[in-house]
Amino acid sequence: MSNYRWNQLDNARGYDAAAEHVHPHYREIQDVILNSLPISQDDTALVVDLGGGSGRLAELVLDRFPNSRVWVIDQSDAFLTLARERLCRFGFRGVCHQARLQDDWQRVLPEAPAAIVSTSAIHHLDPAEKQRLYRQCANGLRPGGVFFNGDEVRPNDDAEYLAVCQRWASHMHRMMESGLVPELLHSALCGWEARNVGQFGLPRVSGDDCHETAETQLGYFTEAGLTATSVSWQRELWAVLSGTKP
Ligand SMILES: C[S@@+](CC[C@H](N)C(=O)[O-])C[C@H]1O[C@@H](n2cnc3c(N)ncnc32)[C@H](O)[C@@H]1O
Repeated sequence: MSNYRWNQLDNARGYDAAAEHVHPHYREIQDVILNSLPISQDDTALVVDLGGGSGRLAELVLDRFPNSRVWVIDQSDAFLTLARERLCRFGFRGVCHQARLQDDWQRVLPEAPAAIVSTSAIHHLDPAEKQRLYRQCANGLRPGGVFFNGDEVRPNDDAEYLAVCQRWASHMHRMMESGLVPELLHSALCGWEARNVGQFGLPRVSGDDCHETAETQLGYFTEAGLTATSVSWQRELWAVLSGTKP
């Protein structure tokens, strides 16, 4: 896995520096999730961020809810190094744990979380892995706990799917040309375009961008035992999918 793109320090540093330029709705999706968390200011609730990368969403949660604790779960040493630096000011409230989302990461949690969140990570899992992960989330949450996945989702129609991928690739090129995206991330972004536009329609395996529709994934949520499932927000290639543990 050491050559996996998200394990390379340059890609982790580049993404951390430029995610809000590369991803046109990066902050908006974080805000949708933050504004929906069922946590009060004095709640010592546990929040888990799956594929939490360099800890940017975790930092926003910890700042917004001063008694909350956040565990960032990620498989990438490179990203977790950045997350540890970012979260060290929160002391014991911010924990970084290295694990694959395909692992039994929930076993190491100190208690059942009030919320499990994720952004731009779960689409790297193949359909069977996503279904297993959603079952782990449904089983692991505390009663009334919520799950939010703010992620890349494909439209059902192939032509529309290709068109949204092309529009995102054009956006990435504009951002690279503007100088807002460090050069160390350029080859990763061109790789995204090659896989999702140049090789459109080829089979995907775990670790690729295994995009599935919002509808399919809400079906997985329901099968996993989550209720009140909904698309909280959706635009272009992105959606925030939510569900509640009864
Ligand atoms: C595009 S980055 C997003 C990081 C962060 N969630 C954000 O929005 O800034 C994708 C992250 O998902 C993590 N990731 C991808 N596949 C994973 C897996 N199977 N298990 C754990 N983490 C994974 C990567 O290591 C990386 O940190």
